[in-house]
Amino acid sequence: MVLGILSAVAACPAIIGTTEAVRHGQKAQAKEAHRGQKVNMIVKLPTAVPGYTEKFDGALIVLKDNKLYIRHSQSTFPPDSIHPFAGYYLPYPSNQTKWAGAGYKGEGLVSTINEANQLNWIYVDRNTHELKYGIKTDVENHCAGPWDCTSIEKRMTFESWEGFIAVQEDSNKDIWSLYFDRFDDGLSSNGLIGDGRQIRMLEIQLIRKERVKGFDMACEERVERIRAMRGKQKEQQEEGLQGEQEE
Ligand SMILES: *[C@@H]1O[C@H](CO)[C@@H](O)[C@H](O)[C@H]1NC(C)=O
Repeated sequence: MVLGILSAVAACPAIIGTTEAVRHGQKAQAKEAHRGQKVNMIVKLPTAVPGYTEKFDGALIVLKDNKLYIRHSQSTFPPDSIHPFAGYYLPYPSNQTKWAGAGYKGEGLVSTINEANQLNWIYVDRNTHELKYGIKTDVENHCAGPWDCTSIEKRMTFESWEGFIAVQEDSNKDIWSLYFDRFDDGLSSNGLIGDGRQIRMLEIQLIRKERVKGFDMACEERVERIRAMRGKQKEQQEEGLQGEQEE
C-alpha cells in the first residue's frame, strides 16, 4: 500500500514516538541497573562537626543482633560479632503497589547477614524507629520501605527523605546505632529514644559504596553472565524448535 502524503506525515510522529520510547526505556534500565548491585553503606556527616567528623565520616554500617550499627573509628565490636551491610534494592511484594499508589518511588532493601550470603530485609521498627534486619515474619508489622536514593549522589532515602540519625546507645562502650526520624521531630515524641532523655544524637547521611572488586567477585560475575547467556540461547533454541513444529 502506498501512503498518501498526509497520512505518511501523520504516521511519522507516532513512529518516532515509539523508537524514542524504546530508547528511553533502555536508558532508564541502564540507569537503574545500579539498584540491583550489592553495595556497602557508609556514613557521611552533612556538615562538619568537630570531634565527630573524623570519627564518623566513612564509617561502615554493620549488622549485629538484628540491628544496624556504625563501626566508627573508636568502636570496639569483637570482629566476629558484626557483618558489614552488603545489599541492594528489591521489590517488597506485599507493599510495592501500595507505595506506588501513595506517590512513593522505591522498593524494599535487603542485605546479606553472614558469610554464607543469607539475605534479610532491612526495615524501620514501627514503634522505636530503629533500623533493623529480619525475615518476612519479623518485618510484617513494621516498615519495610520504600527505600530509594537521591538522584545525583545516590544517597539512601527512606519514605523519600534522608531522616537518618545515629544514636549513642551506650556511652560507656561508645556504641552508636541507626534510627530513622520518621516524624521529623528528632525522635522526641512519645516514648521514642529522645523523649525527655539526655542522649547523644547525630544527623547523618547514608552513602552507598561500591565494593572492592576482588578476584572472587569477578568470578561470580562471570558465572552469572555465562548463566544468563546460556539461558538466552536455550530460550532461542526452544523458540526455534516451536517455529519448526508449527510449519
Ligand atoms: C504495608 O503497608 C501497610 C499499609 O500502608 C502498612 O501498615 C504495613 O506496615 C506495611 N508493611 C510493611 C512490611 O512495610
